[in-house]
Amino acid sequence: MFLELITAEIEKILTDEAAVEPLQSALRHMLFPGGKRIRPVLALSFCQDMGGDPERLLPAATALEFIHTSSLIHDDLPAMDDDDIRRGKPSCHKAFGDATAVLAGDILIALAHIAISRADFPESTIANFHSILARTYFSLCNGQQLDISNETGASLLDIHEQKTGALFGASFAFGALGVGENRDLVSLSESLGRLIGVAFQVRDDLLDASATNKGRPAGSDKRNRKVTFLVDDKAAQEKLEEIRAEIDETLSLIKDRMAVSEFTLTRPVIDKIFAPL
Ligand code: IPE
Ligand code: IPE
Ligand code: MG
Ligand code: MG
Ligand code: MG
Repeated sequence: MFLELITAEIEKILTDEAAVEPLQSALRHMLFPGGKRIRPVLALSFCQDMGGDPERLLPAATALEFIHTSSLIHDDLPAMDDDDIRRGKPSCHKAFGDATAVLAGDILIALAHIAISRADFPESTIANFHSILARTYFSLCNGQQLDISNETGASLLDIHEQKTGALFGASFAFGALGVGENRDLVSLSESLGRLIGVAFQVRDDLLDASATNKGRPAGSDKRNRKVTFLVDDKAAQEKLEEIRAEIDETLSLIKDRMAVSEFTLTRPVIDKIFAPL
C-alpha cells in the first residue's frame, strides 16, 4: 500500500520539477520501477504505528528514496564499485554515461530537499527534516570514503553505520517527526534506525556473495576486495544477535513511551532483514 503512494509521489515531484534531458530520463531509469523503497516504507510504517499520518509524511519520506538513489548511482560508478548492472538493468552510467550519472546523483540530493520543502508541517519540523537529511548525507559520504579506502583502520561496523545506518536512522527519525517534535523520541528512533541499517548492510554483504544477488552477477565486493561479514563467521553471527537484542530493547522503550501496543507495520519489515537467506 505504501509502495504505490511512494511511487505516485515520486512521479508527481519528477513531473513538477522536470530536469532537462537526458537527466530526466536517467532519473526515471533509476526510480521506475526502482527498488524495494524500504527506507520510505519504514518511515511511513513507523509513523503510522506510532499514531501519525503517513500521507502527511509522504513528501519527506520520498526524500529518503531520492538520497538512497543518489548514493547508488555514485556507488556504481567506475571510480567506485564499478558495477554495470543495478536491479537487473544497466546501471545509470552504463545507460547514460558517467557525466550524466554524476549529475543525476547530484540533482537527487537537490530533489530530496525540494521534496521536504513541499511537506505540510510547521516550519520548525521542516527545518528538522532538512538538517537530519544533510547530516545523513554527510555520514553517508564519510562511510563511502572509509569503504573505498581499505587501510583507514575503521571498524567494519563503523563503516556500516555511516554508509547505511545513517539513512535508516533518518528514516526512523522522519517517522517520529511525523508524529510530533519530541526530541527524545526522534533521537531514540534515529538510534533504532541506525541499528537496523547496520543489520541491513550485513545482510546486503551476505547477498553480494551469493548467486542470487539483487539482479546482478555475484561478487562485486570480492572483486573490489571489500572487507565484509561472512555467513560462517561466528563473531559476525554473534554481532547480529547482539544488534537484534538492542533493536528489541529500543522498540520496547519506544513502546512504553508512546503507549504503542504493537509495531504492526514496522515489525515485519525488520523481521525480514533478519530472516535466513
Ligand atoms: C542497497 O540498498 C544498498 C545498501 C545500502 C545496502 P537496497 O537493497 O535498499 O536497494 P534497492 O533500492 O532495494 O535496490
Ligand atoms: C552501498 O553499499 C552503500 C551505499 C551507501 C550506496 P554497497 O556497495 O554494498 O551497495 P550495493 O551492494 O552496490 O547495492
Ligand atoms: Mg559500495
Ligand atoms: Mg556497491
Ligand atoms: Mg553490497
